[in-house]
Amino acid sequence: MLVAVAFVMSVTIASAAPIVIKFSHVVAENTPKGQMANKFKQLVDERLSDKVQVEVFPNSQLFGDNKVLEAMILGDVQMAAPSLSKFKKYTKSLQIFDLPFLFKDMAAVEKFQQSPVGQKLLVATQKKGLIGLGYLHNGFKQLSANDVLRVPADAKGKKFRIQSSDVLAAQFEALGAMPLKKPFSEVFTLLQTKAIDGQENSWSNIYSKKFYEVQPHITESNHGVIDYFVITSTEFWMGLPDDIRVEVKKALDEAIVFGNKIAADKAISDRQKIIDSKRCTITKLTDAERQQWVDAMKPVWKQFEKEIGKEYLEAAVSSN
Ligand code: SIN
Repeated sequence: MLVAVAFVMSVTIASAAPIVIKFSHVVAENTPKGQMANKFKQLVDERLSDKVQVEVFPNSQLFGDNKVLEAMILGDVQMAAPSLSKFKKYTKSLQIFDLPFLFKDMAAVEKFQQSPVGQKLLVATQKKGLIGLGYLHNGFKQLSANDVLRVPADAKGKKFRIQSSDVLAAQFEALGAMPLKKPFSEVFTLLQTKAIDGQENSWSNIYSKKFYEVQPHITESNHGVIDYFVITSTEFWMGLPDDIRVEVKKALDEAIVFGNKIAADKAISDRQKIIDSKRCTITKLTDAERQQWVDAMKPVWKQFEKEIGKEYLEAAVSSN
């Protein structure tokens, strides 16, 4: 009798335990991704608190960007939103987002992501056990360095930290520079100790991680984009009860809309905060100077066109 009661109690307790979603990311909380993750947690808490519990781990506290996807497949983390530049092992097609000077503005990025071709990319990693739940914006990348970078020749021979993307490596090699693939968590120290000369990132990452305090010069190049793939493991996602999956997705979609608004605001306000700090010079390019960067970097498109897929490239170009 006692054994039977204990058994019933343990089944009841087990079935009442909420589903835990660990959401791991590498940036600070005062960023588009940090704010989106916190909003997602807030919405899930409000709507599903007895059934689903979201735990957010910012600043690479749980996993760095070099480990998180493997950990997700192993079930050690359920959600993340790595930069689109970090999926090389899982699909070649997402490399499209790394092509320099591909999108003319964030509206074009959004248009491409929401197009049928952009939506098709959400399942590009599925065979490898990961499923894209949506895109999140951060914004355009700027170049920062120890010296002023006005024309491509200024980058020659310099070491730049890049994300783990072969397209980004080719982009810096096209300038005669030396790219180094390093996790985001190491960038500040690499810059501070001058182990590297420069890096490329969005205004919000340069501000929130204080790169501008250890980089005297920023070139407003807008040469590429940092956006995110909100991702989960196929096994975890398909294992959720249908009604819970629908509610979690709804909360996530709303959090992404919220995060995208923050991204648009921060691209302006964090840029201004960096200018106001007077810690570094901001180099604005003339049309002729900008054209030099386009001419130097754009040949990379041809190099990756086949790997990425012509269909994706054409759709991205036409979103402009
Ligand atoms: C991120 O925004 O998640 C990090 C980008 C980077 O690695 O530079």
